[in-house]
Amino acid sequence: MKKIVILTGAGMSAESGISVFRGSGGLWDEYPVEQVATPEGYRANPGLVLEFYNKRRRQLLEVAPNHGHELVAALENDYDVTVVTQNVDDLHERAGSSNVIHLHGELMKVCSSREPYNENYVKILTSDNAEIGLGDLAADGSQLRPFIVWFGEAVPKMDDAVRSLSGVDVFVIIGTSLNVYPAAGLLDYVPRNVPVYLIDPNDVKVPSNRPVTVIRNGASAGMEELITKYLK
Ligand code: OAD
Repeated sequence: MKKIVILTGAGMSAESGISVFRGSGGLWDEYPVEQVATPEGYRANPGLVLEFYNKRRRQLLEVAPNHGHELVAALENDYDVTVVTQNVDDLHERAGSSNVIHLHGELMKVCSSREPYNENYVKILTSDNAEIGLGDLAADGSQLRPFIVWFGEAVPKMDDAVRSLSGVDVFVIIGTSLNVYPAAGLLDYVPRNVPVYLIDPNDVKVPSNRPVTVIRNGASAGMEELITKYLK
């Protein structure tokens, strides 16, 4: 079976009704990123940060995977597929993808604020118990915090993402502005002879001089085009 690795960003979930981050109307327009997505912001006002992610979680529970997620999942019928996502939603999993690496954490998980990466203290939230507040404690006695990789924090899953590229035949990028590292640097690890496709309705400045086939379309229509035009 040929191997496909797909790097996804916020644009993958846009058609499900989840806001992207950058640009006008993006999430970072409404909420200053340094307040809600950095360790300093969390220390300064943990209650505000917990509520920001409670709100994101409430929204996630109201939306569903889109056709693009479904097409990505269906590729597993014909390919060995790894999804490397910057998204903290679980829409790839809900669409049926079985091999998803979350570079920036997962919204439906919370963890210790003392040792965020210690799996022993990670707790999975459920739809009927999806919020956390000040005073909710992890098993190590520290305040529970969102299992999100904030700016300035390490990205431990990057190693798995790089490893997933071993033997890759096709690399696909969907719905990311490629602004955030190390995720955007994953492309540098893709062997030069491997075809790279980029699906995005807008111009994306690719941080590489390698050839990239651009499919200038939304995630769903772009996936249709990828499958019918390039993967057949
Ligand atoms: P951005 O908001 O930076 O970029 C979203 C991309 O999706 C843009 O290139 C859009 O053109 C594209 N897009 C919009 N609608 C689309 C559609 N229907 N189909 C496909 N693409 C579409 O989001 P990311 O690149 O994912 O990190 O941002 C990377 C990281 O920065 C996020 O994981 C988040 C953020 O700060 C953290 O919170 C740690």
